[in-house]
Amino acid sequence: MLEGRHLINSEDFSIEEIDSIISLAQNIISSPKRFSSICQGKLLGTLFFEPSTRTRLSFEAAMKRLGGEVIGFADGASSSAAKGESLVDTVQTVASYADILVMRHPKEGSSHLASAYLKVPMINAGDGGHQHPTQTLTDLLTITESKGRTSGLKVGFCGDLKFGRTVHSLVRAMSRYPDNEFVFISPKELHIPNHIKIVLEKEGVSFKEIERLEEVIDELDVLYMTRVQKERFFNEADYIRLKDSYILDKKKLKNAKEDLAILHPLPRVNEIHPEVDSDPRALYFKQMSYGMYVRMALIIKLLGVDNAEN
Ligand code: CP
Repeated sequence: MLEGRHLINSEDFSIEEIDSIISLAQNIISSPKRFSSICQGKLLGTLFFEPSTRTRLSFEAAMKRLGGEVIGFADGASSSAAKGESLVDTVQTVASYADILVMRHPKEGSSHLASAYLKVPMINAGDGGHQHPTQTLTDLLTITESKGRTSGLKVGFCGDLKFGRTVHSLVRAMSRYPDNEFVFISPKELHIPNHIKIVLEKEGVSFKEIERLEEVIDELDVLYMTRVQKERFFNEADYIRLKDSYILDKKKLKNAKEDLAILHPLPRVNEIHPEVDSDPRALYFKQMSYGMYVRMALIIKLLGVDNAEN
């Protein structure tokens, strides 16, 4: 039962609950009209304290395509937070107008903190370098559509695994499906955090850490590329040194499997050369479009309007 729940971390929902969201998203993709007024009279509140294109606009589009409406702000500087209002007060204010909230904030743990004060569902749309669970739902829908399963896969995560919140959320989700294996490909400065490795070790999930993508590209079923997260660096010189650590191009894909699925949460900077975009294995634009459908499914589930389907 997902009605009234918050989604702060990808492990907040069981894999059965995640699968039910993926399956509803697939139903929406095949018959969108059936869902076009399911959220009539409902209001989504969006609080974005950090830039976003895909997450914010796909949530807005999702609510509108379900017949609901949206209020909110795309920049904390235009809210009363700029006058010194606390995060909890701002969130409680929007919650008193809306039925469900989505928040992106630069501080790790911000959505968790705010959710403790709320009676309406709170969705974490990214909290600093910690998690981004609705990107994970998008990624899982993309993998399901492409591979027909989310288990028994060898997944390579490449790039900024230290600050990349989408990686943290997806690893935590995929580690709960059976027989997945992970390869973490990054410079040593951008290794996946120890707390995630400790959980994987405890769960008995197989993983290894390497620096060169070429060493494993022929073994992977899924390659999850990521941007080096400039906004999380303390030192610009380190960012400049590390930003082009990986650039996926046609040459690097020469030995990859014919059915490799290449994902990227986007936005990209230089880490995937545009020449790869026309490769049938490049799924990142499809992945981006799935984001709206999976967020439609999530809103329906958290509002508990599943049974009001037309
Ligand atoms: N993937 C993602 O979170 O993109 P935005 O930052 O554009 O929302």
